[in-house]
Amino acid sequence: MTYGCQMNVRDSEIIAGFVEDMGYQAVDLETADLVVLNTCSVRHSAENKVFGKLGELKHLKKKKPAMIVALGGCMPQTPGMVERLKKMDVDIVFGTFNIHELPRLIEEAQESRKPVVRVWEKHGPIIEPLPSIRNAGVSAFVNVMYGCNNFCSYCIVPYTRGRERSRHPEAIINEVEALAAQGYKEITLLGQNVNSYGRGLQEKVDFADLLHRVNQVSGLERIRFMTSHPKDMSQRLIDAIAEENKVCEHIHVAMQSGSNKVLQRMNRAYTRDHFLALTEKIRQRIPDIVLSTDIIVGFPGETEADFLDTLDMVEKIRFETAFTFMYSVREGTRAASLEDQVDLETKKNRLLRLNKVQYQLAYQFNKSLEGTIQEVLVEGPSKTDPDLLTGRTRGNTIVIFPGGKDLIGRLIHVRITEGKTFSIFGEPIQATG
Ligand code: SAH
Ligand code: SF4
Ligand code: F3S
Repeated sequence: MTYGCQMNVRDSEIIAGFVEDMGYQAVDLETADLVVLNTCSVRHSAENKVFGKLGELKHLKKKKPAMIVALGGCMPQTPGMVERLKKMDVDIVFGTFNIHELPRLIEEAQESRKPVVRVWEKHGPIIEPLPSIRNAGVSAFVNVMYGCNNFCSYCIVPYTRGRERSRHPEAIINEVEALAAQGYKEITLLGQNVNSYGRGLQEKVDFADLLHRVNQVSGLERIRFMTSHPKDMSQRLIDAIAEENKVCEHIHVAMQSGSNKVLQRMNRAYTRDHFLALTEKIRQRIPDIVLSTDIIVGFPGETEADFLDTLDMVEKIRFETAFTFMYSVREGTRAASLEDQVDLETKKNRLLRLNKVQYQLAYQFNKSLEGTIQEVLVEGPSKTDPDLLTGRTRGNTIVIFPGGKDLIGRLIHVRITEGKTFSIFGEPIQATG
């Protein structure tokens, strides 16, 4: 079971690779001999989901004492958490740096029938290649780098994922080539801050170079990436996105706040003017770009005026999509010890107001697509109505439309018929590939 971000989705594929090599196969929870929870600690709510699941598993374990529960991912890497987890009914606790040890830990747990805890504090060398089981499909995640050096003051990720380190471009290209040969049409390159890709490698290479190289891989149709830090998004990178035909017109760039005071206290290392100028530059160079962002409300010390600065930026920049969060205290981070914490009611109120503005912008954007013809990569049946299909435009907008299952995995053209706040509907006009 996977919680959290794309990094964890990718790590779970690697975990599946390791345990399938041991002879395990994916089955329903009720019949499982081994359950692996790959956890997230980015916000309190993410951890709570895991505690809820552990409660459920406790009942199942009573009925099936031989079942092994392993808990890995970001939670064990946070201060004090291992002690808490030891008190729960967990057989194995492992961290983000020692996923490759899981097979050994499972054997140990089977033999000793005692809880096994192994959480490395620091990363070891990058392991290449790693086993992995990806669900056969259309789109795949590929890591380009691990860790983060930015230490935004609210964020636990630099602690749970360690220092930034980049994979060799050859290893990345080999993996992408293999995926393209298996029929994947789209890949998403993953890193906490892809703009600093290549730092620390002997070879002089940056993310723009990498995009140019990945673009050469034949069979591949689309390239996406996540995420970019606004402080060091280079002109070279913007040019690469504009120039390379496979790189999609979508950039996820987190603003977090529109207030200079809050940005500084978040240790984001840019100002609102810098951010505004950056988005203007991007929109000018790549006119049909779709911008998505992350925003936190209620960071310690955020006043009503600071929050209004955020709303003002949202209205100016008109992000097509925004992921909005209430600030959540993370033990061990710098912001956790700030005194002027914002109360929950205020946070809730600001989140509601922000979402109201953002939903209106999303509605206007989706409406503006009506009548246009979009290239869509068909991903599969729609989650809300399995008789319909779903896929994404190059701008990463999800479209729902009728069509046969034979279209799955193909690039088609879809005429957009209706744009609502949370969904967009269309009609396929022709299959192109
Ligand atoms: N590396 C990515 C972000 C990864 S975390 C980037 O910088 O773009 C995803 C998002 O979770 C962050 O952008 C932030 O908006 C949010 N987040 C992180 N820590 C948080 C916290 N303590 N409380 C609330 N939201 C948080
Ligand atoms: Fe967290 Fe900041 Fe690193 Fe993103 S860049 S993972 S928000 S510390
Ligand atoms: Fe990702 Fe959550 Fe860890 S967002 S990096 S799984 S803390």
